Amino acid sequence: MIKYLGSKRRLVGELGRLFAAAGAHTGLDLFTGTTRVAQEFNRQGGFTTCVDTAAYSEVLAQCYVVTDAAAVDAAELAEALARLESLPGRRGYVTEVFCEQARYFHPDNGVRIDAIRDGIDELYGDHRLRPVLLTALLEAADRVDSTVGLQMAYLKEWAPRALRPLRLTAPALTAGTGRALRGDAAALVPTLEPVDVAYLDPPYNQHRYFTNYHVWETLVRWDAPEYYGVACKRVDARDDTTRSAFNSKRTIAAALAGVIEAVRADTAVVSFNNEGFVPLPALVEMCEARGHPVEVLAFDTRRYIGQRLGVFGPDGRKVGVPGPERNIEYVLVSAPEPVGEALINR
Ligand SMILES: C[S@@+](CC[C@H](N)C(=O)[O-])C[C@H]1O[C@@H](n2cnc3c(N)ncnc32)[C@H](O)[C@@H]1O
Repeated sequence: MIKYLGSKRRLVGELGRLFAAAGAHTGLDLFTGTTRVAQEFNRQGGFTTCVDTAAYSEVLAQCYVVTDAAAVDAAELAEALARLESLPGRRGYVTEVFCEQARYFHPDNGVRIDAIRDGIDELYGDHRLRPVLLTALLEAADRVDSTVGLQMAYLKEWAPRALRPLRLTAPALTAGTGRALRGDAAALVPTLEPVDVAYLDPPYNQHRYFTNYHVWETLVRWDAPEYYGVACKRVDARDDTTRSAFNSKRTIAAALAGVIEAVRADTAVVSFNNEGFVPLPALVEMCEARGHPVEVLAFDTRRYIGQRLGVFGPDGRKVGVPGPERNIEYVLVSAPEPVGEALINR
C-alpha cells in the first residue's frame, strides 16, 4: 500500500468491526484514497462503492475493491509482472521530470518506471488486469521513492530505499467486489443508491491531495503534463477544477454538512481530526441533523511522518516547522437506535 497522508491504517480494524456489528452488506467509502477502508468492508462481506477525485485512487479501487481476488489467475498475473519487469529501460517523462529536474526517484529506477508504464498501455491497454498492473507499478515506485511521503519536496540525499532496484510484486487482492467512481463527492452523493454503512473521510485542512500526490496522478493519467516549480507539479494544479471545497476554511463546513446530510445510508461514520478546519461540536451538529443519536469515538494517534518531520526544501534544508508528535482522530457514528446499541455492545 502506498504511503498516504490521512490513510486510516490504524483505524481500519475498528471500522471493520463497526461494519460487521451494524450487520451491513453494502458500504460506501466516500473519500476512499488508498481504499483501505473499502477493502476492509469487502473483507467483512460487503459490496462497497468507492468515490474519490484522484485518478490514482480510482485505479487502486479498481484493483483492490472491484477486482475479486478469486477471479484472478495468480500465474497469469505473475507472468504479466515478469514480462513488464524485463522490459529494457526507456528515458521518458518520469526520468526527465521526476528524476533529473526533480529527484523523486533515482534515474536507474526512472527509466524502468517509464518502460513499465508504457508497457502497461502497449501490452495490457484493454486487459482486465490493467488496474492491478498499474497498482503494482505505483506500489513498486512508492517503495523506492526519495520523499517523506509527500510529493511537494524530495530529500537532498537519496533515501537508502531509492538506491534499491524497483521490483514489481503482485498486490494483495481482496475477496469480493464493489464499484469505483471518480468524481466530486458532493456531486456524486445524491446519485448513489442507499447503503447500510457510509464512511466519510474528507480532507481536514488546506493540504491538497492533488498536489501532495501529483506524481501518482501523472503516472496513472500518463498525460505528460506541463509542470512548474522545484516540485515539478502539474500545471493543472493551478486550475480551480482541481481544487476541493474540503481544502478551504471558507467552504469546508458547508461542503461537509452537505454530504453528511445527502448521503443515503442507515449508518454514517465520519472521520475528522482535532487539527481540522471544523471544530468537533460543529461536526456533531452536522451528524445530529441526520436524526439519529451520534456517538463520538476518539483515537490518540501518532502523526503522519511527513508532518512530524516538517517541510524540506529541494536542497534538503528544513523550511517548515515540525508539528506535534500526536493528534486525535475523531470517528463520529450516526446510527439508528438498534444499530447504535449493537455498536456500543460490540
Ligand atoms: C483523508 S484522505 C482519505 C484517506 C482514506 N480514508 C485512506 O484510508 O486512504 C481524503 C481523500 O479525499 C479525496 N478528495 C478530496 N476532495 C474530494 C472531493 N471533493 N470529492 C471526493 N474526494 C475528494 C482526496 O483525493 C483523498 O484521497
